[in-house]
Amino acid sequence: MTIRIALIGTGVMGMDHARLFAEELPGVELHTVCDMSAERAGQVAERFGIRQVLTDAVQAATHPDVDAVVIASPDDTHAPLTLAALQAGKHVLCEKPLSPSSEECRQVMDLESRLGHQRVQIGFMRRFDPSYTDMKATLQRNAVGRAIMFHCFHRNVTAPANFTGQMAISNSAPHEFDAARFMLDDEMAAISVFQPRAVDAGKTGAPVFMVLESRGGRLVNVEINNNAGYGYDVRAELVGERGSVFLRAPVHSELHADLRASERYAPDWRPRFAEAYRLQNLAWLRSIVSGKPSPIASNAWDAYCATRIAETGVQALASGTRQTIDLIDKPALYA
Ligand SMILES: NC(=O)c1ccc[n+]([C@@H]2O[C@H](COP(=O)([O-])OP(=O)(O)OC[C@H]3O[C@@H](n4cnc5c(N)ncnc54)[C@H](O)[C@@H]3O)[C@@H](O)[C@H]2O)c1
Repeated sequence: MTIRIALIGTGVMGMDHARLFAEELPGVELHTVCDMSAERAGQVAERFGIRQVLTDAVQAATHPDVDAVVIASPDDTHAPLTLAALQAGKHVLCEKPLSPSSEECRQVMDLESRLGHQRVQIGFMRRFDPSYTDMKATLQRNAVGRAIMFHCFHRNVTAPANFTGQMAISNSAPHEFDAARFMLDDEMAAISVFQPRAVDAGKTGAPVFMVLESRGGRLVNVEINNNAGYGYDVRAELVGERGSVFLRAPVHSELHADLRASERYAPDWRPRFAEAYRLQNLAWLRSIVSGKPSPIASNAWDAYCATRIAETGVQALASGTRQTIDLIDKPALYA
């Protein structure tokens, strides 16, 4: 079986997906590439030998000759394109977040529930990263006892222009929210958000520090610092009753020179999570072949929860007060 894919969006993430499907993953044909920039889409088509180039994303998402759709266009396009693709009977791999609006996430869950199957996988790829996988396996084999705290750090070299504290919560932090839910197997119940007074909160990339309380009584803290200056650095420590587990980023060599030893940081997320993206996309292809969603991957319910936490976090930042996270009951399809 060859799965015919339409790729929508050919920016940083879209290019990476195109390379993975064209060069690293079996049983797939990149059939259609779509970008609102015809020039960009054309360049990607030429590089990877893709036969159809479109600039209309809905046409790509619903095209009769494709089986599955990868959505890597900007956040606000994700839910409308996912709905269109689902209605046309396609499988969807949608970059995170499914939507910045939990109401739109609910629309996707409602449609999947009506159709009676889960066909949307969300690009929360950390669930497939070997360091997170190992941390979860350590917890599951009871090596550190019951989890009680989870510390998360997300640092970028420089923030994109106009990246506010609100965007740190709604665009960067959902990765941490999903990782915490996945690792702890627990829902988040409340969130408080702080910013260091030593930094102008209006400044691009001003750091945000969050404390989440889970329904099961655990604490999660999340630092989002998109202007960290020194490298792309994602860290986490899971603290259990009898021990703790740290993530280790893949390091393949260490430089010894000038009386010092040093390791390199990745400049951005692609090298750090290269294996996670590959395993995520492979799991998605396998779910299409088997007709069963990956048990590890994030689904529309997980996406809804991450977006609800982010929405509530934005309220907590604006109000300066702890906010309760209200979730709807989990729809039966995702039980
Ligand atoms: N999973 C991850 O680790 C990760 C990392 C970075 C970004 N992302 C997500 O991936 C998505 C894309 O991010 P990016 O950094 O690649 O952005 P980008 O700006 O580099 O690329 C977006 C592309 O989409 C195109 N586009 C915009 N509107 C379109 C439309 N209506 N139809 C077709 N094409 C359209 C643009 O022309 C551009 O080429 C975002 O939703 C972002 O949140 C995920």
